[in-house]
Amino acid sequence: MRSKLPDVGTTIFTVMSRRARELDALNLGQGFPDYDIDPRLTELVAAAMRGGHNQYAPMEGLPVLRERIAGKLRSSYGLDVDPDSEVTVTLGATEAIYSAIQAVLGPGEEAIAFDPAYDSYDPAVRLAGGRCIRLPLLQPGFRYDWERVRAALTARTRLVLFNSPHNPACTVASAADLDALAELIAGRDIVVLSDEVYEHVVFDGLGHHSVLTHPALRASSFAVFSFGKTLHATGLRVGYCVAPAPLTRELRKVHQFNTFSISHPLQHAIAAYLAERPACGQELAGFFQAKRDRLRNALAMSGFRLPPAQGTYFQLLDFGAFADADDCAFAERLLTEARVATIPLSPFYAEPQPLSFVRLCVAKRDATLDEAAARLSAFAARAQRS
Ligand SMILES: Cc1ncc(COP(=O)(O)O)c(C=O)c1O
Repeated sequence: MRSKLPDVGTTIFTVMSRRARELDALNLGQGFPDYDIDPRLTELVAAAMRGGHNQYAPMEGLPVLRERIAGKLRSSYGLDVDPDSEVTVTLGATEAIYSAIQAVLGPGEEAIAFDPAYDSYDPAVRLAGGRCIRLPLLQPGFRYDWERVRAALTARTRLVLFNSPHNPACTVASAADLDALAELIAGRDIVVLSDEVYEHVVFDGLGHHSVLTHPALRASSFAVFSFGKTLHATGLRVGYCVAPAPLTRELRKVHQFNTFSISHPLQHAIAAYLAERPACGQELAGFFQAKRDRLRNALAMSGFRLPPAQGTYFQLLDFGAFADADDCAFAERLLTEARVATIPLSPFYAEPQPLSFVRLCVAKRDATLDEAAARLSAFAARAQRS
């Protein structure tokens, strides 16, 4: 059979999680917490099912949940969003990304993405018949090269895929980055898809700049969010997309034939949870900053370099002192020799770069982080001696 995605295999996240299970390694690879979720959320899910909310939910999302989402955007960013015409509940951020891309992009049209790019963007663009132009962020520090973006724009460009806080670079876009993006697309028929799933995980007092708060970008952007990230429960698979009414109308045309509607009891439970905890999400920066710092401190003397992590629940590890810049080979060594699963960065690039980084997830119990740091430090000590 002719494959529509001949070069696509199993994602690096699935591969590394499987290897971690086989080798009984600590899994700091795939981005999911290893601690329990808030038991109140579990109770609310059970209550919603007992309450009989077990048939199809409305296609665009439960009205009360969309209202709570609008309330959350008001309290987080002072935004005024219409829950009826601008908010759609989706199957995680992944579906929001996929449906938005199918909604805007046609055959032969182009999307721009910045490498290292989250792995779902490029296949979604190609399944829409489009072409993904992958522009690497600049080293050091994964910076945007806006002149290169300008040069990459063509009459076929329809979409820019933007991600802040950025996975896996762990950087946070500045207000100037958003201005530069807005200036580049001004007057063109280009839409921005802004992946903001780590909106609350921004460290050291840096603010998150949402496209929704940018006056020019607000009118031409989809912003994508994830309750899986905000509620420490990646298995919920509930996210949402916020966009002006004309974009939302197009998104929903795809959404209704993609997933149709999202788990009804989960939507009730999340709506009730947000009502009980209106400040939900605001605690995440402090929570994950403490975990980031714990891991960084434990590895400070290890010989690994730790690039700054401004946001997300990841930390990059620079292994340049120990090996050549073949990150897949080094991740395999860490698995077998340190029994710690990590994620190499090259699968996030169209053209792998000579970079010596692997990604660690810090959304783990303190004991897991301590044990991982001890194993990585012991590995580094052995590597330094040999
Ligand atoms: C940058 C980024 N975008 C999107 C997603 C997908 O989010 P969800 O699990 O809600 O589908 C993730 C999950 O890891 C992510 O890191």
